[in-house]
Amino acid sequence: MCGIVGYIGDKAVDTLLIVSLERLEYRGYDSAGMATLNGGKLGIRKQVGKIQILKEILKKKPLEGQLGIAHTRWATHGEPTTENAHPHTGCKNEVALVHNGIIENYAELRDELLKEGHILRTDTDTEVIAHLVEKHLNKSLLVAVQKAVKRLEGSYALAVISIKDPDKIVVARYRSPLVIGIGKNENFVASDASALLHLTSNMIFMEDGQVGFIAKRRVKVLDREGRPVEKKVKIVKWHLLGGPQKDGYRHFMLKEIHEQPAIIRNTLQRRISQGTERIYFEHTSITEEKLPSISRVIIQACGTSWHAGLVGKYLFEKYLRLHTEVDLSSEFRYRMPVVRGDTLVMAISQSGETADTLAGIRLAKSVFLDVLSLCNTIESTIARESDGVIYAFAGSEIGVASTKAYTAELLALFLLTIHWGTLKGMLSKEEAHEMVEELKKIPYYVEEMLDNQKEVLECAERYYQSSNFLFLGRRFNYPTALEGALKLKEISYIHAEGYAAGEMKHGPLALVDEKMPVVCIAPKDSVYQKMISNIREVKARKGKVIAIATRGDEEITKLVDHTIFIPPIREEFSPILAVIPLQLFAYHVAIKRGCHVDQPRNLAKSVTVE
Ligand code: M6R
Repeated sequence: MCGIVGYIGDKAVDTLLIVSLERLEYRGYDSAGMATLNGGKLGIRKQVGKIQILKEILKKKPLEGQLGIAHTRWATHGEPTTENAHPHTGCKNEVALVHNGIIENYAELRDELLKEGHILRTDTDTEVIAHLVEKHLNKSLLVAVQKAVKRLEGSYALAVISIKDPDKIVVARYRSPLVIGIGKNENFVASDASALLHLTSNMIFMEDGQVGFIAKRRVKVLDREGRPVEKKVKIVKWHLLGGPQKDGYRHFMLKEIHEQPAIIRNTLQRRISQGTERIYFEHTSITEEKLPSISRVIIQACGTSWHAGLVGKYLFEKYLRLHTEVDLSSEFRYRMPVVRGDTLVMAISQSGETADTLAGIRLAKSVFLDVLSLCNTIESTIARESDGVIYAFAGSEIGVASTKAYTAELLALFLLTIHWGTLKGMLSKEEAHEMVEELKKIPYYVEEMLDNQKEVLECAERYYQSSNFLFLGRRFNYPTALEGALKLKEISYIHAEGYAAGEMKHGPLALVDEKMPVVCIAPKDSVYQKMISNIREVKARKGKVIAIATRGDEEITKLVDHTIFIPPIREEFSPILAVIPLQLFAYHVAIKRGCHVDQPRNLAKSVTVE
């Protein structure tokens, strides 16, 4: 987490850095800061709070110069305070640096520096790096940073400037992403390509262990041993739906919810060839010849992407008869998975930078397993480190609560199932055709639901003051229950639990009383009658039931307190529809509670630390 950006060139550095930093605010927003070099002097502004506050400070006290670094923070070590905000400096104010990552041996380094007489002023792990660089700084900032990073354990992406070596920004990467942007008589660095896409399409993605610098007309990258590496400049053109503007919507989350029909429609057009109805997945070295020989899949992901993975399990088991496990990446990375050569590891990640998911990929590769990733962010670390990648094509998602990326991940899994099922001979052409035809209805159905939010709004009005919620679902919609609960808790701070409805009587039913709203996802599917029984159990304990039901279902309306209808669809595709009212519900409840929808407290969009 945390966002880093750096610039060297002729433009007004503070304005340029702020614009790029704002594109990174999703990575953290506890505090923000900037440092520039101007006429041999180091200028620093930093402040607790969002980038907007830093902007106001810079209006009153601008920073001049043609070289600078900036940071938006998600606190790991030390509270979010102005003091703990980046950039950090050493004792002599000769060095300033910004950091993303965690230094695991910082306590030991701190003790050592204190003994040597350094004065450390903050509670952060980052400050020790500034002092280490200062300690080794003679003339060359590059050499000082090379020496400093040799002492670090943990993860880091660094951008460092110094008055002693004033014509460059030194950069280093280990287990935290860092990208160099190449311009004409100017160069850039950022933790994420999206911060630079408005400035350049030419990018060098740094690899773990590399250290280097950007100067106005020069870029140098060295490997771990200090040998120059051949720089691979990639052209990153990411002109997809969903830029960093709200386009008239009050929040990014609302905009992203409303983008879903267009994303689904575009992806279907892109992935299904007209006439032949063949499904295409580019960018994957896991070939059509290879797919049928895979007999086991381990899906690993976090949060909302993990929920998409759970839907994937039901799909792969039903249609591909594939042994499929789904694991949280934070657990998978420390397991000792029993694997065979015919196992495929799938990683699902919107950001493509989630540290645990990346570690899971590295674990899989260390035991020679193929990794196929489902990512939203083009050229992200996960996409680059995997053997194959399927892009979700949802465009950049800014709201911390994932919405459009989730439905785009689901759609990709639906398409992959049909594609793979056909290759394996498990799905006939006719079945595949029927499924594709059903998928084509989804954008219209989602539009319908977005156009009529009356019931969702009524439920939000009725229950926004509740302190607890339960979400229940079965089979394909058990993950929907988990996702509905996650959306509500992360943006409205209401305690919410998602359960497999059949588990209720094994404990959670004890929570139900007349104050407990229970959201039951109960479309007309193979487990509908089981859900009806669960609803009766809740009603018998006086719980308030909000049902997500199939349009026209009169039976359910008689039983429950509120019904939100979704259009009828094949059972396996219902999660993509059932989640829409839950996204809207979470949004409207959060608004009524006055919560910060796009940037909920304590969270960040991209979780690049463990
Ligand atoms: O970028 P990723 O998909 O790897 O992120 C995983 C989770 O951090 C993410 O889904 C998180 O749970 C969202 N805030 C949920 O809305």
